[in-house]
Amino acid sequence: MEFLSLLIVSILVWNSSGAELWSHLRNQKQAVRAKAADIKLYLYTNENTQGEEVLSIENLDDLINSNYYNHSLKNIFIMHGWTGTILNDVNIETKAAIFESGKSANIFVVDWSIPAGLFYPLAVWSIPSVGQIIANYIDEMINHFGIDGSDFILVGHSIGAHLAGVVGSNLNGTIGQIVGLEPVWILFSANNLAEILDKTDAAVVHIVHTTRGFGISHVSTGHADFYFNGAIEQPGCVDSGCAHARACAYYAESIVSSGFKALKCSSYEEFQNGDCSGNQEVIFGGYPLDGSISGDFHLDTAEVAPFALG
Ligand SMILES: *[C@@H]1O[C@H](CO)[C@@H](O)[C@H](O)[C@H]1NC(C)=O
Ligand SMILES: *[C@@H]1O[C@H](CO)[C@@H](O)[C@H](O)[C@H]1NC(C)=O
Repeated sequence: MEFLSLLIVSILVWNSSGAELWSHLRNQKQAVRAKAADIKLYLYTNENTQGEEVLSIENLDDLINSNYYNHSLKNIFIMHGWTGTILNDVNIETKAAIFESGKSANIFVVDWSIPAGLFYPLAVWSIPSVGQIIANYIDEMINHFGIDGSDFILVGHSIGAHLAGVVGSNLNGTIGQIVGLEPVWILFSANNLAEILDKTDAAVVHIVHTTRGFGISHVSTGHADFYFNGAIEQPGCVDSGCAHARACAYYAESIVSSGFKALKCSSYEEFQNGDCSGNQEVIFGGYPLDGSISGDFHLDTAEVAPFALG
């Protein structure tokens, strides 16, 4: 469904018959500003893995009064993509994997479904304001609890990956780690670092690529970029929407299994030809990420879970 809508939007935007609509929309770019009241946080900890605590993002009061928040633990912020909700795969799968792995953490599921539910260009243009609101909240957490940017891990899917980048950018790259799952490049420019996910946004930025990006090619902007199955289609998927969501399943599996071996390689063709067989081999994903690796990596997967080929 998401794929179909993205396709329609991209046709509207690039087809000349959409030019008038497009110029009308462009005028709204600066006007799309989310309010803190439109965004909520759902807190899960090892003490409340199912029943979330709903927190206002307008100030820290709810968090300070939380029954579950423990500031000695890492803080994971998860951000869904366009038309997403707290029930998206990225939230459910990441959260389940962290708790299943036996690690303790404060997991904040970011509900930005109101701005993310707007018509695609408007949702994209809301990201600078949404990112600023989340960054302000994290900055308040750091100051109030005497914690550090390195105590934060951001996980974002689709346009939520770019949102995570914008949050990191607003915090001047002091965040510990960002996991970008299938950032979409429609209406994002790799030249505009303040509005995309890139390696200046955190100490460690790893990015997962699983599709061709719905018509706009992917670019490697992390410290490490992982291309699964050539990032065209995914085995076991019948459409790009499935392949797009598969990025979340791969990351979640990596947290519990650490089983995805990837090879440093500059293209899938060379990877398939065996030209990279002597290159560095690394393990994709996990929690926390391996901050020592950098470059482009390729790997293949199975059609069904467990996806790692080992
Ligand atoms: C908070 O986490 C720390 C580190 O794991 C642990 O030692 C402490 O007991 C926790 N506090 C509470 C109130 O659970
Ligand atoms: C980021 O840098 C700007 C410019 O130096 C500064 O005004 C701002 O306070 C910094 N923000 C954080 C959260 O470090």
